[in-house]
Amino acid sequence: GSLWFIVNKQRALPANYVPAGLRQPAIRLRASGSSEMLLRDETATAVEQMTAAAAKQGINLMLVSGYRSYGLQQSVYGGNVAREGQAGADQTSARPGHSEHQTGLAADLGSTNRFCELETCFGQTPEGRWLVAHAHEFGFVVRYPDGKQAIVGYTYEPWHMRYAGDRKSVV
Ligand code: DAL
Ligand code: ZN
Repeated sequence: GSLWFIVNKQRALPANYVPAGLRQPAIRLRASGSSEMLLRDETATAVEQMTAAAAKQGINLMLVSGYRSYGLQQSVYGGNVAREGQAGADQTSARPGHSEHQTGLAADLGSTNRFCELETCFGQTPEGRWLVAHAHEFGFVVRYPDGKQAIVGYTYEPWHMRYAGDRKSVV
């Protein structure tokens, strides 16, 4: 239940791990009603607060992908392997059990206009720039920054936010 546990290429979650307290945040959703729109309660609250603050500055965010079960990640990763081969898929897509999306603490965000959704160019959009500047104020880490693949394991994902708790929950 810790907000700080690490999931990466070295550290996997059990296939049957489902986080407690999943709920749909009250923001614009790519696919309302889908289990992929769920987030852990703390993460959903932080996403709601961040989205409301962004909207006041004319930045309109949408949840593109949140919680992904082991089974869903298996099909996402499998689809990428089918298209690009395993070596290619491993640059951009986590193997089942290794995705932060299974923790309910990760949110792929996009613009409500869907411009550059889940594409590198999202980082150059007003929404992408706003997230880089402000996500940490709400407890989020831009988890896969540009140029850090050797450390984080994946290519640049300006849309992937990992909740780690805000200062108030740390101090
Ligand atoms: N795209 C990220 C690395 C994931 O599949 O969890
Ligand atoms: Zn993601």
